Amino acid sequence: MKAIITAAGLGTRFAPVSKIIPKEMLPIGSKPALELIVEEARLAGVDGITIVISHQKEMIRDYFTSSSDIDFVYQEEQLGLGHAVLQARTDDDVLVLLGDALVHGCSAASEMVKISKENNFASVIGLERVPLEKTSRYGIVKCDDHDTNSSVVTIRDMIEKPSPELAPSNLAVAGRYLLKREIFELLANQAPGKNGEIQLTDAIARAARDAKFGEVKGFVYDGKRCDIGNPDGYYQALTIFRG
Ligand code: UTP
Repeated sequence: MKAIITAAGLGTRFAPVSKIIPKEMLPIGSKPALELIVEEARLAGVDGITIVISHQKEMIRDYFTSSSDIDFVYQEEQLGLGHAVLQARTDDDVLVLLGDALVHGCSAASEMVKISKENNFASVIGLERVPLEKTSRYGIVKCDDHDTNSSVVTIRDMIEKPSPELAPSNLAVAGRYLLKREIFELLANQAPGKNGEIQLTDAIARAARDAKFGEVKGFVYDGKRCDIGNPDGYYQALTIFRG
């Protein structure tokens, strides 16, 4: 299994500072946030890590240049998260970690790998519970009713940023994905979705709806996810990680 960390996004929510510092390199204590994510991937036991960057984010490559288990691919145009993952296409199953999503209080990736091995799950999507009024900020999963209070659910569908009236649950996709290699085929012919972007959520939703890909499971991991892609989330991360 390989890890893919996406870090090629424009970072508009963190402008103007993101013009000069990639948001993924903002400090959490004495380390850039991305280093914490690399540590999480290594702890989960991956065979190698590919970081997806853009030419404006060479700082990331410079920082990690001496790490022998890390390589880099470029996303030439920012066409969405699904497109970023596709740039790192491989023949292996993959653990995808968003470069601007930190998890405090557990190693989400390790928990997901463990649960998939123990139960022979094909794909596991990391989830968090969110307040119903905030569903329009997240990818929300649809699962069987009897599953909604459990920490492991079978995902039937996924909807990108639904309003609370249209949200099928309060379970949100939370920055970590364990995916079978078949995801790359789906991404390669994925039509643009919300905001005209190639959405990873849309490709996973197709896998969830099609029995031939095996069941897509969701797992509510134990830790707290911080989205450092915007100033409020970043300040929250600084407070939480300081302890
Ligand atoms: P986000 O949607 O949070 O990042 O993607 P963004 O596009 O940089 O955000 P804004 O809206 O401009 O502020 C989650 C992760 O996926 C990466 C981002 O770098 C981030 O780490 N990403 C997103 C890509 O690598 N490529 C893309 O085209 C989009």
